[in-house]
Amino acid sequence: MKIAILSNGPGNYSTKRLKEEFKLKGHEVDVVKYKDCYATIESSNPVVGYHGESLSGYDAIIPRIASGMTRYGTAIVRQFEMQGVFTTASSIAISRSRDKLRSLQLLARAGVGIPKTVFTREGRDIDEVIDEVGELPVIIKLARGTHGNGVVLAETKKAAKSVMQAFYVMDDDGTNILLQEFVKESAGEDIRVFIVNGKVVASMKRKGLDDDFRSNIHQGGEGTSVKLTEEEKKTAQKAAKAMGLPICGVDIMRSNHGPLVLEVNSSPGFAIEKVTGRNVASKIVEYVEQNAKKTRRRDRVGA
Ligand SMILES: Nc1ncnc2c1ncn2[C@@H]1O[C@H](COP(=O)(O)OP(=O)(O)O)[C@@H](O)[C@H]1O
Ligand SMILES: [Mg+2]
Repeated sequence: MKIAILSNGPGNYSTKRLKEEFKLKGHEVDVVKYKDCYATIESSNPVVGYHGESLSGYDAIIPRIASGMTRYGTAIVRQFEMQGVFTTASSIAISRSRDKLRSLQLLARAGVGIPKTVFTREGRDIDEVIDEVGELPVIIKLARGTHGNGVVLAETKKAAKSVMQAFYVMDDDGTNILLQEFVKESAGEDIRVFIVNGKVVASMKRKGLDDDFRSNIHQGGEGTSVKLTEEEKKTAQKAAKAMGLPICGVDIMRSNHGPLVLEVNSSPGFAIEKVTGRNVASKIVEYVEQNAKKTRRRDRVGA
């Protein structure tokens, strides 16, 4: 097969590992920097241009779209979709995974446990909103934050109010801020579950630095292998399905009322291979081999 990995970082560990495993199985692989791609829109001929030529003949694309480039990246993915090329993540599924509010709504609809979350507008009575979430402290999040930036723990109503005001100033339409129950019983820790073909293939626990409630690797968090309970496995698989992402990273917190999903990542990193010793890239190759030639799946999430 001929495969394109859509990645702006050919040197990234994840990109290198994918390329290596596809080559190992005898496939032809190109790393395509989607930031250098352009889409030509004309009737019945969706072309993706790249460095002076038009890209064609691919059996599958593996999008590795950075969070800061979601709009452009998904537009390029969509152009490949219009050509009928198989993709491991659909453009619409990538877009919705980048919006925490939309993701939580879909997860809740599917019956997946999530931390209690309130989505509010500026000007609402802050006391009322905090009472709605539960007790202090509360988590305040930007709906489109990533790598732990844009997630704040507010200990008092006063602090919550100033954080929200600061976020609203940065926000364009005032609709992108979430208040969330603080899952204190596992503060500073979460679990990353890597899903391929709707099934768990690896999982690790991430622990933040001593003084940080955030466990993101980008904030200095460290991973160790972890064994999931049946309930955690089911939760992660259900979350992946609800988001329409056959390949993804599901982040779960262990709360005293069961596993709660924080978010579902459509371009999960491969550091989990180093931590767990699992060959995640080869699972993705198998998935593509089994699915790329089939008729194209439709997105059925409907939101
Ligand atoms: N409701 C919460 N209760 C406790 N800790 C949380 C909560 N939400 C997020 N965190 C911590 O903050 C980190 C970042 O939050 P997350 O929602 O995943 O945003 P990001 O997209 O920036 O990673 C999580 O990995 C977790 O460690
Ligand atoms: Mg996260």
